[in-house]
Amino acid sequence: MRIKRTTLILGLLFIIWSSILYLSYYHYPAHNNNDIPNKLNKQIVILEQGISEEFAKNNVMIRGAQKILEIKKEREQSQNKLLPKELQNVKIPVLVFACNRITVTRCLDSLIQYRPDPDQFPIIVSQDCDHEETKTAIQKYGNQVSLIQQPDQSDIQVPPKEKKFKGYFKIARHYGWALNQMFFNFNFSTVIIVEDDLDVAPDFFEYFLGMYPILLKDSSLWCISAWNDNGKEGLVDIKRPDLVYRTDFFPGLGWMLTKNVWLDLYKKWPRAYWDDWIRDPLQRKGRSCIRPELSRTRTFGKTGVSNGMFFEKHLKFIKLNEEFVPFTKLNLTYLIKDNYDNDFVKKVYQSPVVKYEDLRMDKVEYDVPVRVTYKTKDEYKTITKKLGLMDDFKSGVPRTAYKGIVTFHYKGRMVHLAPTANWKGYDVAWS
Ligand code: UD1
Ligand code: MN
Repeated sequence: MRIKRTTLILGLLFIIWSSILYLSYYHYPAHNNNDIPNKLNKQIVILEQGISEEFAKNNVMIRGAQKILEIKKEREQSQNKLLPKELQNVKIPVLVFACNRITVTRCLDSLIQYRPDPDQFPIIVSQDCDHEETKTAIQKYGNQVSLIQQPDQSDIQVPPKEKKFKGYFKIARHYGWALNQMFFNFNFSTVIIVEDDLDVAPDFFEYFLGMYPILLKDSSLWCISAWNDNGKEGLVDIKRPDLVYRTDFFPGLGWMLTKNVWLDLYKKWPRAYWDDWIRDPLQRKGRSCIRPELSRTRTFGKTGVSNGMFFEKHLKFIKLNEEFVPFTKLNLTYLIKDNYDNDFVKKVYQSPVVKYEDLRMDKVEYDVPVRVTYKTKDEYKTITKKLGLMDDFKSGVPRTAYKGIVTFHYKGRMVHLAPTANWKGYDVAWS
């Protein structure tokens, strides 16, 4: 179907092109009246030659394009056949949030570039803001993406103190509407959520597809995220793109959500600050997400609703994974809560304790993963600042923490920044 269409388009282009060529050759000389018929004849012969040469060239081009499309289709099909049976027929749409940034094309280009199968991963762009230029840019993708538009563009009443945060109200309204569309109108059972300022990694789709069965199987999980909040170059193990963790901190920024979870959220969906709201214990209910060592997304949204400081100081340093990890072929059952809590958490508390100062000065002698202990909020803040980690909390949960443990890579070794073994849970007063 697509091949036929491409042939047609190329054919049409050719006809247009030849007409232009014809018109430009068909230049009637204004002076010199006597040998007009002769000259004209010559010109027609030249024109005919030109046209047939171009025709031959275009045929070669069309055949080349057909060949490329055939190869791409074959590759997609064989890739699909190689998938484990239970994943072959899974359909997971990617919902892209857009508003008024025409750079959504950068995001769409990277999604389309790495999408193994358009039928398995339909891309649906939901546009807010009624911005014509952005809409036109999205429509240029033709049937590679679908476009839906958030219909309610009415002004939102915002408390005076929060006037400057109106953008967050709009984002929340858009999210609520678009997710309802995905789950209740289009009836999808799982969605990957992407924002218009994200680049994705080559194995972005493979990562989500591989994690999908784990998300369904383990009810203590409520999201799969492509983002590592501490994913800066110097804090990740570049050689371990396969590493994946559980986290109690909702990372967002490229994440997968199921209809089941949405059924729990949509009725009380907030008017603003949806991501902080979702991190509240009332919503999280003790559930965790999966996050990678190496981010599968990176944001290029320097200017947006929040100020650019966070971008300049932090976001722009997040390292995007470049290597393809065949997640759908890996055994990922170690991520299931019982296995993980027995194995990973136990290992953390068996690891030797070191001082963060020694770690910083590279004075640690162990070759194995080590542990740094924190007891108070202030201690946590000091250590993270000194080591260059994110130092903030949301609802008392430090970024990337699992049971209070923040795991990262530092000067060639794995480090667990962990509370004492008698940890009693997160304290929402830590902020
Ligand atoms: C930050 C978060 C973002 C979250 C948002 C809501 C980071 C890096 N980003 O947004 O994940 O969703 O807070 O609390 O932490 N948009 C609309 N309508 C608007 C304005 C924006 O739909 O009126 C869309 C944008 O197209 C984009 C998304 O909302 O897809 C986020 O907007 P952006 O401007 O990137 O805000 P951030 O500050 O990054
Ligand atoms: Mn953004």
